[in-house]
Amino acid sequence: VEAWGIRRVRSALRAARKKDHSFSSGEILGSMCTAPHAIAAEAHALFLETNLGDPDHFPGTTAIETELLEDFRVLLHAPKKAQARFLTGGTEANIMAMYVAREKTGKTEVVLPEQAHFSFEKAARLLGMTLKWVPSHGGRSHPGEMAKAITKHTALVICVAGSTELGLVDDVRAIGRMAKAAGVPLHVDGAFGGYILPFLNRPSHDLRVAGVWSFSLDPHKVGMSTIPGGILCLRDGSDWDYVAVETPYVSTDKQTQLQGTRPGGAVAAAWAVHRTLGDAGFSKIIDRCMKLSRWLAAGLEKKGYELVAQPDLTVVTFRAENPVALQESLSNAGIRVNVVPRFGAIRIVVNPHVTKAALQKLLDAL
Ligand SMILES: Cc1ncc(COP(=O)(O)O)c(C=O)c1O
Repeated sequence: VEAWGIRRVRSALRAARKKDHSFSSGEILGSMCTAPHAIAAEAHALFLETNLGDPDHFPGTTAIETELLEDFRVLLHAPKKAQARFLTGGTEANIMAMYVAREKTGKTEVVLPEQAHFSFEKAARLLGMTLKWVPSHGGRSHPGEMAKAITKHTALVICVAGSTELGLVDDVRAIGRMAKAAGVPLHVDGAFGGYILPFLNRPSHDLRVAGVWSFSLDPHKVGMSTIPGGILCLRDGSDWDYVAVETPYVSTDKQTQLQGTRPGGAVAAAWAVHRTLGDAGFSKIIDRCMKLSRWLAAGLEKKGYELVAQPDLTVVTFRAENPVALQESLSNAGIRVNVVPRFGAIRIVVNPHVTKAALQKLLDAL
């Protein structure tokens, strides 16, 4: 390409960015992601050039990552020997859970509920594993049905703490008991709900639950950090060794992540939000999102809309005669929602950037 010079490039960048929708405008009501916290943006910029794939050059960033992973281990009530890794998001966490399970067990079948995220499909194709999809009841995994699908070839069972379409949380304790009795590792996909549940007064769903082998959660969703940021925590940290490769020419002995060069910016951002808000700050934000979700659900029902399920977390999904057409007309009115084809429905995710005024605008438009 010919050289444009910085001024032309900058103005092209601004023009492209202007075409985007933004969380701060209040328009985006259906996204799993949210506006990064101001301190996340600041931290990301400060650590922009850092590479955790070669940590000797970046001991400060490495220390921040170590602290953050310990914070998450504690948040998930994982035992001391557990180890979390900072990944790129929920997809990589699910791929890695399946990969480690395959290497550990030498088996290739995965039992998962129908509401599990499409990232498992990607993982199965990459890893040459077979998915056994199990019907759910009312959007939640059914331990009995899952148990029936387990065979001697099963490497991993999966359940979901905050489903993508409806935000529903599985009964992790019941599924954990079932998995433990069957002697099969259980991965809990908490990409969405994993950063919400610790701040609600709910029965334990995390690594306190016997039978849970791994748990994922995403700082780049409700966690208000920058993209890319996902966590996978294994109950027994030594299980990471099943996928370790030796790493000559960089300052580590081995790596267990898919990425070689790894951005320290997203790690610093997640650390910064976590430490800025603390548990009390997160609880306040989650409480507000939960209240707004219930308020929206009640408002939709008052207008005659049928909810696919009562909101369990901060996802509100309602049926529409023609969801695609409704999405389009809402979009024309400056309200951006997502379609959930499986239920002929529209999904709203009441994330931290979502205001009551924006939800009222949605209700008025409907
Ligand atoms: C439950 C669940 N798992 C996994 C993912 C994939 O996460 P990511 O898009 O960060 O890779 C999502 C995304 O919405 C999700 O909701």
